[in-house]
Amino acid sequence: MTAPPTPSTASAAAAPAPVRPLDAVLGVLARLLTPVLVVNLVAQVLIVVTGGVVRLTGSGLGCPTWPQCVPGSYTPVVQQAQGWHKDIEFGNRMLTFAVGAAAVAVVVCVTAWVVRTRAPKRLLAFAAIPVLGVMLQAVVGGITVLTDLAPAAVAAHFLVSMVLVAASTVLLLALARPVAPASARVEVRAVVGALAVVAAAVLALGTVVTGSGPHSGDAATPSRFGFDPRTVAWLHADAVWLFVGLVLALIVVLRLADAAPRARTWARWLLVVTLLQGAIGYTQYFTGLPGALVAAHMLGASLLTLTVTGAVVAVTGTPWHALVAASTTSVATTSA
Ligand code: HEM
Repeated sequence: MTAPPTPSTASAAAAPAPVRPLDAVLGVLARLLTPVLVVNLVAQVLIVVTGGVVRLTGSGLGCPTWPQCVPGSYTPVVQQAQGWHKDIEFGNRMLTFAVGAAAVAVVVCVTAWVVRTRAPKRLLAFAAIPVLGVMLQAVVGGITVLTDLAPAAVAAHFLVSMVLVAASTVLLLALARPVAPASARVEVRAVVGALAVVAAAVLALGTVVTGSGPHSGDAATPSRFGFDPRTVAWLHADAVWLFVGLVLALIVVLRLADAAPRARTWARWLLVVTLLQGAIGYTQYFTGLPGALVAAHMLGASLLTLTVTGAVVAVTGTPWHALVAASTTSVATTSA
């Protein structure tokens, strides 16, 4: 006669392996990866628009010093001469912490994901770009205030944000939707490379137009670069026409190369964003630069950076796509 199983041996055979608390936490963080990457990208775009509100309301020196708002206080004080401008500038400084928190969350979630999936560790260096960029922006923002809104500092502040929007887009696509190159054809790669270079030139020229116009920082000192606003605006628009030609060329070469649908979809979105942004550009130019349109143009510049990056990455493939895709698949198989 065999002895009945004791309660302890019976449950040992049936019970699943206990989940360690650390594994559970890593699992939750890894699952949050995609939402956190989306929030980070949205935050990087939105801070460009709120920074624009500071400029467009002439509040750039609302807090006349940095890192304190006024000498002796990190927060605005009632007696300050800057009126409500101080609240706008201080509000934007506070938003930096929200954007910073999203960037830190990216590092935490990517770390958890790398530990769980054994994905390449170099992804961690890549994931640190937003948080390092926010720190850099805090310094560039400080230099902007301490140089009394020098136009080159204002332009650098904007352009660093564009780099952060691009990097955040690449991170999201690389980790959430890894893809192989859409086409290895040299014509496709040449067009997409030219597109990225001309996009950078359009953005840089845009900041020169801003620095030569009425919205260059505070209402008291317009046209800080001192260039003729009409001439630089037309130069900026000419570069945009070159860009439109390249976007059309990209759509055609992707079709001729029978490239992956993902790249063709990005290229079509890029055309839509470019045409809308161009329409806003001409409208604001011919209507005397109303603040709302200038803010919309800044949002458009960020969305254009996002879509150019998406198109480039769809054509060239996301970084380490094979390794990332393999890690994702192995975890899905293990947990199934
Ligand atoms: C792909 C299309 C375009 C892009 C990506 C683009 C991008 C930009 C950028 C990045 C700025 C500087 C924003 C800042 O420093 O805060 C700017 C400013 C400006 N852009 Fe464009 N732009 C485009 C099309 C156009 C067109 C077609 C015009 C027509 C003339 C135009 C007119 C202007 C003007 C007048 C400003 C100065 C606004 C101000 O005073 O703040 N843009 N643009």
